[in-house]
Amino acid sequence: MSKQLEGNVALVTGGLRGIGLAAVQKLLEKGAKVWIGDLTAADDGVVSSTLSGLSGDVAYVRLDVTDEQSWIDAIAKIDEADGRLDVLVNNAGIDGTGRIQDMTLDLWRKVQAVNSDGAFLGVKHGFALMEKSGKDRKGGSSIVNVSSIMGFVAFPESAAYCASKGAIRNFTKACAVEFAAYGVPIRANSVHPGFVQTPLLDEGFQRMVSRGVAEKAQDLKDQVASSTPVNRLADPDEIATAIAFLATEDASYMTGSEVVVDGGYLAR
Ligand SMILES: NC(=O)c1ccc[n+]([C@@H]2O[C@H](COP(=O)([O-])OP(=O)(O)OC[C@H]3O[C@@H](n4cnc5c(N)ncnc54)[C@H](O)[C@@H]3O)[C@@H](O)[C@H]2O)c1
Repeated sequence: MSKQLEGNVALVTGGLRGIGLAAVQKLLEKGAKVWIGDLTAADDGVVSSTLSGLSGDVAYVRLDVTDEQSWIDAIAKIDEADGRLDVLVNNAGIDGTGRIQDMTLDLWRKVQAVNSDGAFLGVKHGFALMEKSGKDRKGGSSIVNVSSIMGFVAFPESAAYCASKGAIRNFTKACAVEFAAYGVPIRANSVHPGFVQTPLLDEGFQRMVSRGVAEKAQDLKDQVASSTPVNRLADPDEIATAIAFLATEDASYMTGSEVVVDGGYLAR
C-alpha cells in the first residue's frame, strides 16, 4: 500500500472499536500518525492492548466529543506533540432507539450531543490547526464526518439517530461551502454506511431482543442483511477504505460530498 499520508497527522474519534478502529488501521497503513480519541481513560488496559495490536505511529488521547473542554485539551495535546492536524474523522456515535412518544428528552439530547454536537465541536476546535496544516497539502486538510444511510432515510424507532445523522450530513456541506467561500484549505465530506458488523449494531439488536422485538439478535441481523441488495452486512474495513480515501490528496477536489457505502441499500 502506498504511503500517501506520510508526514500527516490524523485524529479519529471513537477509534477504539468498530468503524473508528478500522479507519485508524487504514490511515496507519497509508503512513499517517494517528491519534485515537475515545471515552476510555488513557491508563485503561483496553487502550494499551488496542495500541499494541496496531502497527504504525499511533497515540491515544482521552476525548469526550460532547465536552468542549475535552476537545480543547485534546487538540492542544496534538498541537504540542505534532504541531499539525491534517485529517479529522468525526466518527464517534451512539444510537438510541424507541418510539417518539416514549423517548425522553434526555435520550434525544444525548444522541444529538454525541452524533451532532460532537462533530461541530471537533470542527470548531480543530479548525486553526487544520487550516495551518492544509496550506501545504493539495486540496487542503480533510474532515470526514461519519453519518449513515439514516441521514437520508428513516427507520421506525430511530428518530433521534435519524435526526442526528441528517444534521451531520448537512453540517458537512455547511463546512465545505463556508471554508471554500473564505479560501480556507480544509475539505469536508460525509460518509454514509449501511449496516455494518460492529459492537454498536450488536448491542442495539440485543436491546431490541430484551424489548421483545425479536427472539434472537441473529434474526434481526438476517433481516437487515436480506433488506440490503448485496444480501450481507458490511465489514468495518469496507467503510474505513472510503474514509481513508477522502483523507488523501486523491480526493483533493472532493468537498461537500456524500459518500454512500451501503451495499446498494439506497439504490432501490
Ligand atoms: N454499525 C453500523 O451499522 C453503522 C451504520 C451507519 C453509521 N454508523 C456510524 O458509524 C460510527 C461508528 O459506529 P460503530 O458501529 O463503529 O460504533 P461502536 O459503538 O462500535 O463504536 C463507537 C465508538 O465511539 C465511542 N464513543 C461513544 N461516545 C463517545 C463520546 N462521547 N466521545 C468519544 N467517543 C465516544 C465509543 O466508546 C466507541 O469506541 C457512528 O457514528 C455510527 O453512528 C454505524
